[in-house]
Amino acid sequence: MTERKKVTIQTLNEMKEKGEPISMLTCYDYPMALLEEKAGMDIILVGDSLGMTVYGMDSTLPVTMDMMVNHAKAVRKGAPTAFLVGDMPYMSYQVSKEEAIRNAGRLMAEAECDAVKLEGGKEMAETIEAMVKATIPVMGHIGLTPQSIAQMGGFKAQGRSAEGALKLVEDAKALEQAGASLLLVEAVPPPVLSEITKALSIPVISLGAGEDAAGQLLIVHDILGFFDRFVPKFVKKYADMNSAIYDGLKSYVDEVKSGKYPEEKYTYGMKPEEVEKFKELLKA
Ligand code: KIV
Repeated sequence: MTERKKVTIQTLNEMKEKGEPISMLTCYDYPMALLEEKAGMDIILVGDSLGMTVYGMDSTLPVTMDMMVNHAKAVRKGAPTAFLVGDMPYMSYQVSKEEAIRNAGRLMAEAECDAVKLEGGKEMAETIEAMVKATIPVMGHIGLTPQSIAQMGGFKAQGRSAEGALKLVEDAKALEQAGASLLLVEAVPPPVLSEITKALSIPVISLGAGEDAAGQLLIVHDILGFFDRFVPKFVKKYADMNSAIYDGLKSYVDEVKSGKYPEEKYTYGMKPEEVEKFKELLKA
């Protein structure tokens, strides 16, 4: 297998120009990163969704910078050539531009991310401009933005009214103008995504917003059937890992209880004379 060249922002721009769809998936740990890299994932997002998928939280709000940096470091180890995006957790970029730069800088320097992602429309434009000036590539995120669930009244599709849709197009333009390199659009109707894609020159990635984008993102725990507490409408399940893992765990428990495990082949050998000598030594 030939080694893949590092995926860069130039690679992603070229893919968009050629009409070659960009694959993007979340990832939170080293073993999954190895597999995503092997599968040829173009962009890997270490999302703050890890609060819910990995830590069992009810929302992404309690996720901290330290959690994000640690998980992103592990993912980078397993996925050296994918374009790695580190998610900025709640209140790591909203308080001031200085804090946003410092926190994003941690994801870039400590975890070797290629870009950071933050949620919000026009109101984040100045912050993005400051981050880009500080050499940090940014992916914007509009539409359903999980860090605003309190304001949105839950995990709800956005841009379903004409006014709401227009605001999203304006937000998208403002983020591109501020210097964002990529834009994620989550859970909006396809006609809204199409207008955003048409209006921008940077690659737009769709998460449950239809096909008219440079690429697609889904959550790894959703597509592999790891997380079934809450499954959005746009999720396509590509594997049923919960069942496969449960079957393995249950068989292990059953075999330990019944004494079937460990059979001799799972133990280390010892020459009979060494066993005899060992017994003699014990008597002495
Ligand atoms: O944290 C995450 O995985 C995300 C996706 C929902 C886009 O931000």
